[in-house]
Amino acid sequence: MESVCPCKHLAFIMDGNGRWAESKNHKRFFGHVKGAKKAQWVVDICSQLNLPCLSLFALSTENFLSRPKTEISALQRLLKKVFLKHSDFLMKRQIKLSFLGDLSVFSSSLQNLCQDLSEKTKDNSGLNLIVALNYGGRQEILQAFQKLAKEIRGDSLSLQSLNEKSITPFFSSSQFPEPDLIVRTGGEARLSNFYLWSASYSELYFTKTLWPDFGREDLNSTFESFRRARRKYGKI
Ligand code: IPE
Ligand code: IPE
Ligand code: MG
Repeated sequence: MESVCPCKHLAFIMDGNGRWAESKNHKRFFGHVKGAKKAQWVVDICSQLNLPCLSLFALSTENFLSRPKTEISALQRLLKKVFLKHSDFLMKRQIKLSFLGDLSVFSSSLQNLCQDLSEKTKDNSGLNLIVALNYGGRQEILQAFQKLAKEIRGDSLSLQSLNEKSITPFFSSSQFPEPDLIVRTGGEARLSNFYLWSASYSELYFTKTLWPDFGREDLNSTFESFRRARRKYGKI
């Protein structure tokens, strides 16, 4: 299928699973199950549309710290199930899977699975899929500071050489192109600590649609809005 994606890096803040489930008198977890299915659908479509890069914000550092342990454990089990189920699909579609965030907080079986899948898919030539898990933009900035400070202290980097270009590689998200378009479902108009450094010139699209309800029409509307955007980068 020819590319109809107007951008190179599309990112989703997949919000609204809990409210979706509660509105149907289900437990919140059912919303996460539906949300995971929706994520699979988006990956499938984006890989068919020849999108180069897709990010999915699946769990923030704040979610990990502040949500009930039962919800976090259930989410971990769900992630494991979904990754295991789609291992062959990733290879068939030539999807390269990468992770952002601190995975060390997860069970060793989930960590190993993430590592195995990244390794197994690393030479794939299709969609670059980035799953942000226990990820926080501030955490990413802090880690970049720590790495920078270490290099400056060790004399391998001088204070004078610091500029936007030279410090960018210290950010873990800099291995990917900056997101062109960040879409947030669920009605909130905020980033909730997603991609703080690399989103400085991203187009933002907020929709009231809850993530499990996000469909082809919503996707077309996000693309349409991106096509209309005039990306001026400070120019007149
Ligand atoms: C987003 O949905 C998914 C995660 C943060 C894991 P929520 O769980 O935040 O759903 P709402 O916002 O409560 O509806
Ligand atoms: C943002 O959703 C994080 C993810 C979708 C992974 P939240 O539901 O955690 O955001 P807040 O708490 O409403 O800002
Ligand atoms: Mg939410």
